[in-house]
Amino acid sequence: MTIELIVRGGTVVEPTWQGPADLFVEEGRVAAIVAPGAAAPAGSENARVIDATGRLVMPGGVDPHCHVGYASGEFTSLDDYRGCTLAALHGGTTTIVDFAIPSPGQRPLDVARAQRAKASEGLCDSALHASVVAWDDSTEEQLRTLASEGIVTVKMFTTYRGETMADDDTILRTMQTLADIGGMVVIHCEANHIIEEDQRRAQVRGEIDAGHMSGTRSALAETAAVAEVLAIAERLGSPIYFVHQSTPAAIELVSAARRRGIPAYSEGVAHHLVLDDGKYAGPEPERYVCCPPLRDRETVDALGGYLFNGEITTLASDHCCYDLAQKREHPHDVRSMPNGLPGVETRLPVVFSEYVVGKGLSPQRFVELSAANPARVNGLYPRKGALQPGSDADIAIWDAKAVWTIGSGGLHMATDYSPYEGMEITGRPTTVIVRGRVVIEGGELVDGTPRGRHLPAGAVDLTVF
Ligand code: URP
Ligand code: ZN
Ligand code: ZN
Ligand code: ZN
Repeated sequence: MTIELIVRGGTVVEPTWQGPADLFVEEGRVAAIVAPGAAAPAGSENARVIDATGRLVMPGGVDPHCHVGYASGEFTSLDDYRGCTLAALHGGTTTIVDFAIPSPGQRPLDVARAQRAKASEGLCDSALHASVVAWDDSTEEQLRTLASEGIVTVKMFTTYRGETMADDDTILRTMQTLADIGGMVVIHCEANHIIEEDQRRAQVRGEIDAGHMSGTRSALAETAAVAEVLAIAERLGSPIYFVHQSTPAAIELVSAARRRGIPAYSEGVAHHLVLDDGKYAGPEPERYVCCPPLRDRETVDALGGYLFNGEITTLASDHCCYDLAQKREHPHDVRSMPNGLPGVETRLPVVFSEYVVGKGLSPQRFVELSAANPARVNGLYPRKGALQPGSDADIAIWDAKAVWTIGSGGLHMATDYSPYEGMEITGRPTTVIVRGRVVIEGGELVDGTPRGRHLPAGAVDLTVF
């Protein structure tokens, strides 16, 4: 064994243990985790040594929900694979999972193949969720072909009529096919009919602008759709993953289903866990327009409790990078605004600061939520999301005590604002390693070589719980 990189003196953090240990890297993979100070094998004299004394050595984050250059209606989000992964790396994330979402008339297979081809522009590896909007005679064959090419998760939406919304029959057939081929539907649940009615009423009241975002997409719409989709999953015995769950009531539905034996999972998103709907009452509410919207403070705090008890499975960003000009285009009507917030770079620091430093969430649980579990449910574990012999050497070394303030100027996402602007953060990744190469050092990019690979998924791991 010829070791090329050694990380010495840090505290290694994995979901099931943490402690002082050194880490050896060989050919871009973790070769061994050894006692502090253990000698490297003969022949490793030229290994680069990184001193991680006083720092946490964590698996690089896996962001399971990231929209790269997403075209939706009038707007396209502003980044590409290079830009999104550059920002991800600065925030300690070393794998992103993007979406290939068909515009009306496009075939899921074609869109996924085209999007997958962009992975090589990335500075780190990426995986992809395909997406089905409308079922037709060729859909099952397309899904089987995608699975044979390593894409087994499929995004669906119960909302955004005329764009990405799928009807119940399409959802059922897609779930049935994926259950058969070892895949899983990942779904955005908001009952569209309830939302459209909420929006009609809001318009009559003169409250359809960004300042009234909360009232246009209710928590009830979210739980109604979750219940409906869970019923389909229960009937079929299919696994199901709910993206961006924003309320305790929605999470509770999923937890209860899991207790009945349905492999059902809840994703939490950083902005729903940190920011509240007070932002819609402030200046420039359009900065915070996203679906589901930010909820009230009591809901945000209750939602955070599910990070501790394990009922939130994964922590995601739902990164969707629009700038202020796009956000300001139609602030008087949320129905024509671009939905989504930039977040791939801030996902880990804001949750580390608020929950690990602020509320006592263990670093082990943080790693489980933000790296291991996202890799598991996407069929990428333990190649990604783990520091085990044989895992890709994607490593984020954190200074847990560094104090800094989020300002759009210091970030790297392809936008001119952050929803967290002015927030004081404790903790930040200082050294980030991609497949054994140091790419971020002292918080700065030191190696911008595009080495991204598309990651074919193995079978989705349904034993997370
Ligand atoms: O507001 C959001 N979440 N925009 C991105 C697309 C989606 O619905 O996830
Ligand atoms: Zn969504
Ligand atoms: Zn999304
Ligand atoms: Zn206007």
